[in-house]
Amino acid sequence: MKTLIEPFKIKSIEHIPITSYSQREKFLENAFNNTFYLHSEHVTIDMLTDSGTTAMSSRQWAALMDGDESYAGSKSYFKFEDAVRNITGFKHIIPTHQGRAAERIVFSILGGKGRVIPNNTHFDTTRGNIEFSQAEAVDLPTSIGTRPDVAADFKGNMDLDALKALIEKTGKANIPICMITVTNNSGGGQPVSMENISQTKELLNSYGIPLYLDCCRFAENSYFIKQKEKGYENKSILEIAREMFSYADGATMSAKKDGLSNTGGFIALNDDKLAEKMKTVLIVTEGFVTYGGLARRDLEALAEGFREVMDENYLKYRIEQVKYFGDLLLAAGVPLLVPTGGHAIYLDAKRFAPHIEPEFFPGQAIACEVYKTGGIRSVEIGSVMFGKKDENGKHIAPPMELVRFAVPRRVYTKSHIDYTAEAIIEVFNNRTQLRKMKIAWEAPLLRHFTAKFEYV
Ligand code: F0G
Repeated sequence: MKTLIEPFKIKSIEHIPITSYSQREKFLENAFNNTFYLHSEHVTIDMLTDSGTTAMSSRQWAALMDGDESYAGSKSYFKFEDAVRNITGFKHIIPTHQGRAAERIVFSILGGKGRVIPNNTHFDTTRGNIEFSQAEAVDLPTSIGTRPDVAADFKGNMDLDALKALIEKTGKANIPICMITVTNNSGGGQPVSMENISQTKELLNSYGIPLYLDCCRFAENSYFIKQKEKGYENKSILEIAREMFSYADGATMSAKKDGLSNTGGFIALNDDKLAEKMKTVLIVTEGFVTYGGLARRDLEALAEGFREVMDENYLKYRIEQVKYFGDLLLAAGVPLLVPTGGHAIYLDAKRFAPHIEPEFFPGQAIACEVYKTGGIRSVEIGSVMFGKKDENGKHIAPPMELVRFAVPRRVYTKSHIDYTAEAIIEVFNNRTQLRKMKIAWEAPLLRHFTAKFEYV
C-alpha cells in the first residue's frame, strides 16, 4: 500500500477556530504583525513550533496517573532515567524543565569570556545561553547546508575543515565542548550523517575536546540515517540512535520534541566531576536531581514518549507527512528549502518574494499573509531572527531568509496539511502584492519573540 496513513486513531478531539479573512486582519494588526503575539484561539492551524505541541498517546495519559509526586527518589524519575539511558547510554541523566534550562546549566559552567563553542548550527536559545555567559557561539554548517535551493542528503552536517581551522585558530584550551545539533533545526531540519558525527568525534579526540549532541530530534535524525546512509538500512532505530550517542560525551535535550511530550528536557553525560557541578546548579535553579523542575507525572509521560518515538511506523508517518506537505508545495512551484527536513517545511523567502530585500523582512511579510489567508501560524527564520546591524546601523542579513511551518507531532491530519498547502499556494500566486515591512520596536536580545512590525 502506498497511501500515507496516520498510525493511530483519534480518541479525543480539540475544536479549532474557523475565522474569516477580515477577522484575521484585525487579529494580526492587534498582534503588531508578529505571529508570536497572536492568541492561539485565533489560530486555525498552528505551525509556530513542533515543541511541546505533541498529542500524547492514551498510554501517556494513563502514565500521568501513575506519576509519583515524591520530591526525592520518585519512582517516576527512575523510569525516566532508564528510558533515557537505554537510548543514550550515558551515566548521569539530569532532568530539566526544558531544553534551554539544560543549556543554561551547561554554559553557566562551561561558558565564559574567551571561550568558543562550535556547532553545525546553534539553535537561538543555545546561542543565547552561550552569549549570555560571554562565550562565543560559532556556526559551522557545510557550504551546501546554507543553499536552500540545492537538494542533497545530510545537509545538516558539520564542516570538518572549518572546525579544524577554528580549533587551530582558537586553541583547544578555549573550546570546552563542541556541539552537533540533530537534526539541524536552524539549518532546515536537515539530518546529520553517522559518518559526519563519527568523523567530528575523531577530529575532536585528537585535540581532547568533548562532543555534545543537542539531541532534540535524535529519533528523526536516526530515521533519516536508516533511509539514506549506506550500511544502516537493516539496523533498528534504537541501534542507530545508540551508535549516534556512542560518539558523544554528553547531550542536552529539549524533550518537548522527540520526547513526544508537552514539556521536559535533560542533560546527559559521563564525566562525574562535571555532573556533580551541574547537579549543584540544578538544585539551586531548577529543582532536586530526581525531578529538575518537572512534575513527576511529566517524567512518566516522557518515559513512555521515549519508547513510542523509537517506533519505525511512527517515524515513517512523521517524516513522510512533512515530505507530503513539501511535495504539495513543490508541485505548485513554491520555492522551498530542499529536501524537506524532519519536522518542518521552510519556505525560501528570497525566491518567494524577490522584490522585498532582506532588510525589509520578506519572510515576515509571507508569514503575515499566510495567517491572513488561512489562519495558519508560522515563524520567520531569517533577517528578523538572526539579522544584525553594523556600526552604521546598516542591516547585515543571515545567509538564508526562511519561513518555517513546523508540524506538531501526531496533531494534524492529511486534510489539515492540504488546507495549509492551499493557503501557502494562494499567497505564492499573489506574491507580487506582498509588501515590505519594518520593525517599529525591538528587544535587545532574541528580538523575534516580541518585535513589533509595520508595513513600509
Ligand atoms: N535546541 C534545539 C535544536 C531546539 O530546536 C530547541 C527548541 C532548543 C534547543 C531549546 O529547547 O524550547 O525546550 O527550551 N526549539 C523550539 C523550536 C522552540 O520551535 O524550534 P526548549
